Amino acid sequence: MTYDLVIIGTGPGGYVCAIRAAQLGLKTAVVEKRKAHGGTCLNVGCIPSKALLHASHLFEEAGTHFGRFGIDVGKPKLDLKAMLAHKDDAIEGNTKGIEFLLRKNKIDAFHGAGRILEAGKVEVTAEDGSKQELAAKNIVIATGSDVTNLPGVEIDEKRIVSSTGALDLAEVPKKLVVIGGGVIGLELGSVWRRLGSEVTVVEYLDRILTGMDLDTAKQFQRILQKQGVSFMLSSKVTSAKATAKGVKLEVEPAAGGKSETLEADVVLVAVGRRPYTEGLGLDEAGVKRDERGRVAIDDRFATNVKGVYAIGDVVVGPMLAHKAEDEGVALAEMLAGKAGHVNYGVIPNVVYTYPEVASIGKSEEELKEDGVAYVVGKFPFSANGRAKANLQTDGFVKIIADKETDRVLGAHIVGPEAGNLIHEIAIAMEFGASSEDIARTCHAHPTLAEAVKEAALAADKRALHM
Ligand code: NAI
Repeated sequence: MTYDLVIIGTGPGGYVCAIRAAQLGLKTAVVEKRKAHGGTCLNVGCIPSKALLHASHLFEEAGTHFGRFGIDVGKPKLDLKAMLAHKDDAIEGNTKGIEFLLRKNKIDAFHGAGRILEAGKVEVTAEDGSKQELAAKNIVIATGSDVTNLPGVEIDEKRIVSSTGALDLAEVPKKLVVIGGGVIGLELGSVWRRLGSEVTVVEYLDRILTGMDLDTAKQFQRILQKQGVSFMLSSKVTSAKATAKGVKLEVEPAAGGKSETLEADVVLVAVGRRPYTEGLGLDEAGVKRDERGRVAIDDRFATNVKGVYAIGDVVVGPMLAHKAEDEGVALAEMLAGKAGHVNYGVIPNVVYTYPEVASIGKSEEELKEDGVAYVVGKFPFSANGRAKANLQTDGFVKIIADKETDRVLGAHIVGPEAGNLIHEIAIAMEFGASSEDIARTCHAHPTLAEAVKEAALAADKRALHM
């Protein structure tokens, strides 16, 4: 039998591509080498980290705000084993869900490592070494990404951990040093700080969350500092060595200079991720990669080898599950003769800390660089009635609109539910809305979403509650 489509990798890109292809009548198979489907996201990424972020947030709330709400539960006691078990349940529930969806859509799932032999042929090597060959009209590489290593720092997943090990620490480290002030470092750093760790983030650049609107990132850093996270910016770790008792790190100014020694119980290395292409047979099959090791594609996800496509973290663009999913859908639609499309200008980016940070479209820095004239409307959660009632007043909503046309060009939110609130702006941007359109839309009272409306009003200097 020849499949219409064989997809290598069942992360959010691959399994969603498979479902959409099957919905459109393509005979589809997936190949996955992990025991469970769902890729990094479900097994060791988004889902487990969010399970721990939620649980650790509740733990912190119980010890801080509960009293002010009139709930006296005494000092909360941590049962780390139970919290980690909850996280494992969340993984299992979600990966089982994917198994069900694959079956429901009559997608054949092969367990083993996939390798492209040539256009139209994928070899699957099972864990026991047995091999089988699949014939396919089209092949999709959806193998995702892996942790980037740092020279001089060897990850053992015990004392020096990647995001994977940081989801499974047997005890709360007294001192946690996080290398990298990006999204993984700040999310997992937050988890362990809430559970009792003293957290220091060492970041190479002079700011956290590179690429995100600077004013928003700065505000967020201030909030994290208030929560007790320490930052060493413009600093680089040159080595980290695990000892019997902990880890010794050498840190020096990014520009070079005198190094200092830090000690930690655990070190989290979170300096980015790289495309995962090992063992895929790309060189043998003649599939080209770009200068950063990503599978090179055209604007229809096609590689240079006919019938071989790639989506998700393994190709250009932000390494985000939802970007991979949208690419999977678009590619399946194209392969079925429809017009698939991804709007790369409107992809939300969320950091699931407390408060959350969410961003979409352009930052002020990008607009300045592009020479676009813009206005900013900003509204603090401290002036939002619901946020005040909930004791969630940290942060703001910021909407950036074109100075001439008022079209919304971007939005950046630090605050409660930012990851949900950003989608109102995503829809607005998809429809080419102006900030006035958002401002004229009736928003229910009392909601956090009123802060979005007020920021839109503020873009025209007429916020009502400020
Ligand atoms: P990142 O690229 O977000 O941040 C890495 C940080 O490490 C950067 O700020 C960089 O300047 C810094 N860095 C690099 N080398 C360093 C050194 N030697 N010393 C100190 N700092 C150094 O990467 P991260 O946090 O590892 O995340 C990887 C990917 O996973 C990202 O693309 C992210 O989008 C994705 N992800 C997304 C999540 C979400 O959407 N909520 C959650 C987790 C990951």
